[in-house]
Amino acid sequence: MTVSIGYINGKYVELDELAIPIEERGHQFGDGVYEVIRYYDGKGFMLEEHLERLKESTEAIRINLEGGIEPIRSIIEEGVKKAGIPDCYVYLQITRGIAERNHLFPGSEVKPSISMTVKKMVPRKKEAEEGVGVITHPDERWANCYIKSLNLLPNILAKQTAADAGCFEAILIKDNYVTEGTQSTMFIVEGVTVVTPPLSKQILPGITRIAVLDICKIAGIKLEEREISKEELFNADEVFLTSTMSEVMPITSIDNQKVGTGEPGNITKVLMELFVAKRSK
Ligand code: PDD
Repeated sequence: MTVSIGYINGKYVELDELAIPIEERGHQFGDGVYEVIRYYDGKGFMLEEHLERLKESTEAIRINLEGGIEPIRSIIEEGVKKAGIPDCYVYLQITRGIAERNHLFPGSEVKPSISMTVKKMVPRKKEAEEGVGVITHPDERWANCYIKSLNLLPNILAKQTAADAGCFEAILIKDNYVTEGTQSTMFIVEGVTVVTPPLSKQILPGITRIAVLDICKIAGIKLEEREISKEELFNADEVFLTSTMSEVMPITSIDNQKVGTGEPGNITKVLMELFVAKRSK
């Protein structure tokens, strides 16, 4: 039984159906942006924040959404309903549309393409319980990582290098400082203080990051938004990553070196519990 659905420009399709014309700009140039949203028990988690970030990404690359972001919300909600999977994840892509290949933007008659998949989520339980290993990797991406761009080649290459080393994720390092993971936000714990890099053009403003910052504030956990050097990363008592797909995930080794005791840290475990409580509300 298939539990996934696909959607492209007003039409529901099978995931393996040929649906993208050759001259689709997302396909030829990666000329588009995307968003990933989790549904828990039929409810979109922090959907407003995801829609706002998607709006900002489209504006940053000058894609004009006729009717704004609201029609996108309807597409997502209809897709999730149609799929009938209460615990699912949605990938939604918006590209500059289908036009004869040319670096220059097409005329205003060319409308953005909207595509989406809705798939059943299998929670990463074992990883969350045991913690994961990661590698460090040079951050070889561009200067505008705050845009959730479809151009993911440096992320893909770094993530594959991590997987080849038997690891879950690569922590990207720029000028000796942590930026983020290839598809996640980074946090360390020093003593009782949770630390994460400040928002800048170098990182994606993670939605799960917002949730964890809120949780820290409410629970009275000390939090600092500041740069994290590579040395600090290796000396941290605890390290964890956050993302829509991985929630709060403990990191127990970096480049084969144990983080703290080599077990998921206590503050990380508290944050994991509080996160589950928040998204189950
Ligand atoms: N990735 N940084 C990068 C580069 C990311 O791609 C992501 C998300 C994050 C975390 O953002 P959020 O908490 O909003 O998911 C940080 C998604 C899950 C993905 O590409 O699959």
